[in-house]
Amino acid sequence: MNTFYRAVAPFVLLSIRCVAQITIPVETTDFAVVLQSDKDNYLHMVYCGKKLNQSVDYKDIISTYRFPSGNSGVYSNAYTPAGTWNLAEPAIQVTHSDGNPSLDLKYVSHQTVKPDANSTLTTVQLADPVYKLNVSLFYKTWQLENVIEQWSEITNQEKGPVVLQKYASANLFFPNNTFYLTSFQGQYLKEMQPTEEKLQQGIRTIDSKLGTRAMLLGTPNFIVSFDQPAQENSGTVLLGQLAWSGNYKLDFEIDSYKTLRLIAGINPYASAYTLPAGKSFRTPSLIYTISGNGTGQASRQLQRWARNYRVLDGKGDRLTLLNNWEATYFDFDETKLSGLITDTKKLGADMFLLDDGWFGNKYPRNNDDAGLGDWQENVKKLPHGIGYLVKAAKETGVKFGIWIEPEMVNPKSELYEKHPDWVIRQPERPEKYYRNQLVLDLANPQVQDFVFGVVDGLFTKNPELAFIKWDCNAVIYNAYSVWLSKNKLPQTHLYVEYVRGLYAVLERIRAKHPKVPMMLCSGGGGRGDYELLKYFTEFWPSDDTEPIERIFQQWNYSYFFPSITTDCHVTDWGKQPIKFRVDVASMGKLGFDIVVNHLKPTELEFCQQALKNYSEFKTTVWHGEQYRLASPYENPFASLMYVSANKANAVMFSYFHSSSPIFTLIK
Ligand code: DGJ
Repeated sequence: MNTFYRAVAPFVLLSIRCVAQITIPVETTDFAVVLQSDKDNYLHMVYCGKKLNQSVDYKDIISTYRFPSGNSGVYSNAYTPAGTWNLAEPAIQVTHSDGNPSLDLKYVSHQTVKPDANSTLTTVQLADPVYKLNVSLFYKTWQLENVIEQWSEITNQEKGPVVLQKYASANLFFPNNTFYLTSFQGQYLKEMQPTEEKLQQGIRTIDSKLGTRAMLLGTPNFIVSFDQPAQENSGTVLLGQLAWSGNYKLDFEIDSYKTLRLIAGINPYASAYTLPAGKSFRTPSLIYTISGNGTGQASRQLQRWARNYRVLDGKGDRLTLLNNWEATYFDFDETKLSGLITDTKKLGADMFLLDDGWFGNKYPRNNDDAGLGDWQENVKKLPHGIGYLVKAAKETGVKFGIWIEPEMVNPKSELYEKHPDWVIRQPERPEKYYRNQLVLDLANPQVQDFVFGVVDGLFTKNPELAFIKWDCNAVIYNAYSVWLSKNKLPQTHLYVEYVRGLYAVLERIRAKHPKVPMMLCSGGGGRGDYELLKYFTEFWPSDDTEPIERIFQQWNYSYFFPSITTDCHVTDWGKQPIKFRVDVASMGKLGFDIVVNHLKPTELEFCQQALKNYSEFKTTVWHGEQYRLASPYENPFASLMYVSANKANAVMFSYFHSSSPIFTLIK
């Protein structure tokens, strides 16, 4: 029994105090989150840890806490309101229809249902005793994977609109002594860099205000380790992610009793949301797992859950590919592409993926400063259109996929000229660009139709199109929506409605084209959350494909994502021999972005054989259990193994890497 469990369990049976009224255990196969109402009907989170043998034992846990005063009830609240008795960081803050800023929430009722053999759904109703505002807390469990998905729904039953100033998804409470947080920061080419720190009294915030590309500088993924720094094979750890593709905020607060409160949700920054009377607001989900055996087991639980229940076609197949981005950049035409299609076949990959640069006529996309938004084939480069290439690929015996970036626009484009109102920008201020482009206003249903039309049009015209790479290269500057203002809606809805608009488009795409694999890309690894992975089969972790750096990056992504979702391409980055580069990329979904003609005959032969070998073991990598055996952060080498579910097959990858100061884990 590790220290986290030890802290609670021995007291349980001895306790005789009983002030609790209702105890609500939310249990998976191995762990439990327990809620309990007190004598005043406030709801608390009283336990998070190993599942106890008898659920009746949970009811006395709170009496084992060492809190000497009533303040503890503030810290352990299961969804802490603002404006009344609470002076700690709130989970929810509202302004009522009469302008009053106070909120109190008391337990009303709860129920647990069993949607299927492997899951439960517990709903707890809370209500303000004075104002007609209700909150439902939802806890969905996946028993075998030990995963909980938690979200909230706020319902306004007042006579007028209520302004939601803050509306967290989850408010968790952990009564331990010492906590270590691993968070993941970075920037372009340096995504997903871990930092582990011991949490001190006060709040450590991890957030994004970028609007889009939310994972670029930091990610909504985190590891909390109890009592000691996170270990791969021992100790209690909680791994989680806020499944939201826009601005997020995770507050890790060590309170005055040194207990930990975690409040996670949409970032309230510039996002006060006016909820009309009679309407509900559903927050995104916080998804987490707990393991008593370190991060290795926790990752395997999350990876299994993601494959089985979350990622589009998570249990399915994937296509190996040859991409032309680094081979040609914008410089190609039909003849060159026909050659690359032939090269795809020669290499032995399943598909040729045409990247950026195929569109725009008045403003041809020959560089990244023009054409974005004009999704018609460039007649000079592709006089016979995409259809010609799809057909050429078919005749060659490979599939054809294509790159798009449908949420964005270059000011040098016909789309911008025709629909300036569709662009997010401050009408009275100079425009500010990120990669020479601006973001379209997905809060606007017309823009949603346009984005849907880009994808639907491609599939309708080219039914055999096999794959889409969906890029997103800009952040939102000068956040302002003409559509919101025309519809007399607050500008503070923009960040939320943008993301909802994106999900609405993806719902429509998947309703009509349920199966076609799509890669999520965001100028490297700016996107890749569990919510978007409902619609995408895979994501692009980084434009950094230097193999040594990739070992570290893929290692870090693997805490949260199964390898089948992680696109890894062999490129010309790095000085390592081709075998090294192919091996690193083979730990995910393998692809190539090289000039096949530049390979030496022996290298080409090696790649051809490597693709054949990959098809022999890819099922084990994609669908097996991953074991991170030796950390590159702790050794001059890294070693990882994938084991098939029936344990009949295993693939092990080991790499020697020279130490590099960039990757020193900050402790
Ligand atoms: C950024 C992506 O990360 C690259 O792979 C490539 O698709 C470029 N965009 C194209 O502009």
